[in-house]
Amino acid sequence: MYRLIRPLLFTLDAETSHRLTLGLLHAGSRFPGAMALARRLLAAKIPELPVNVMGLRFPNPVGLAAGLDKEACCASGFHDIGFGFVELGTVTPRPQPGNPRPRLFRLTTHTAIINRMGFNSGGLDTFLVNLRRTQRHGLIGVNLGKNKDTPADRAIDDYLTGMRAVYPYADYITINISSPNTPGLRDLQEANALDALLAGLRDEQERLAISHDRRVPLALKIAPDLDEASIDAVAGLLLTHQFDAVIATNTTTQRPGLDSEPLARETGGLSGLPLKPLSTRVIRRLYATLHGRIPIIGVGGIFTAEDAWEKLVAGADLIQIYSALIYRGPDVVHHIVSGLADKMHAVGVASLDEAIQRTRHGSVA
Ligand SMILES: Cc1cc2nc3c(=O)[nH]c(=O)nc-3n(C[C@H](O)[C@H](O)[C@H](O)COP(=O)(O)O)c2cc1C
Repeated sequence: MYRLIRPLLFTLDAETSHRLTLGLLHAGSRFPGAMALARRLLAAKIPELPVNVMGLRFPNPVGLAAGLDKEACCASGFHDIGFGFVELGTVTPRPQPGNPRPRLFRLTTHTAIINRMGFNSGGLDTFLVNLRRTQRHGLIGVNLGKNKDTPADRAIDDYLTGMRAVYPYADYITINISSPNTPGLRDLQEANALDALLAGLRDEQERLAISHDRRVPLALKIAPDLDEASIDAVAGLLLTHQFDAVIATNTTTQRPGLDSEPLARETGGLSGLPLKPLSTRVIRRLYATLHGRIPIIGVGGIFTAEDAWEKLVAGADLIQIYSALIYRGPDVVHHIVSGLADKMHAVGVASLDEAIQRTRHGSVA
């Protein structure tokens, strides 16, 4: 079906087709019959492949990455096409328009996307109205950012405002310090700044856990452009502060293998196929320090079950996709989950986790 619609969507400007797709999903979710049909056609085909991570039970390990549903309009629709979890946002405390258009580019020959959206956000108020209305069909993560005009030394205030607002509605919360499109944001990954940030966030998490009588896990989303020493420093700080998870990675400012691509000169973060080895490198390096003590959510260039398996074996516990959904359509979720189930059966065990452990530790090729 998506094979028929894709040529039409790809003739439209990237952001227009993105809005159209979300609009259709939103409209569909208002008709119970339409979403029941989506569930029957897509989600029902997906095998159960449960994993337990961050104290949560995920029906399968394939999630929607942040950035597609920034206004929290369509979570149930994404669950109905089979995602094991959905990450909404990035949302900033106050509304902001993001960068001027055009700001989203498809590099079709390279199965990639460049975006410099710049946290276009309706702000927390609109986000919460939508989130409260959402029918819960699965696990929801909320990804938080800072406003562009919030000074760097006050960044933590924006994250704390976001945490307090979304805490009652989120299954986990992501702190996004790795978008390349908000000036200065990535500097928060530097060790001293990160130490102070993580300490403040964890204190607030403890307070909120008591006042809400529920502990919501916190994940940190990092960039693929960190050098080895910086990845090690981030991993060390995650352990020191006992963070609940790390998401690796966001988009890259590098342009690997794109010398002959004119659109590669566009400023912004690159996602899709060329990002794959960069994000896997970060996951592998994180795992070398973390050794499973803090779960890793792997994201970047995953299109197939083979790509997902590579991330899991490198150290990830869950994975997320974004560009694959744009290029391959909703059926990609089914393909990846079914392919992972086949991998698990080939190892001859009854849980995905065990299949990964065995492969990681070399008892399986
Ligand atoms: C158009 C676009 C917008 C994005 N917006 C966000 C965002 O708001 N917050 C975020 O954490 N990541 C954002 N991302 C990054 C994705 O969540 C993901 O980390 C990245 O695209 C790599 O995954 P992929 O190769 O499967 O696309 C965005 C990606 C794209 C393509």
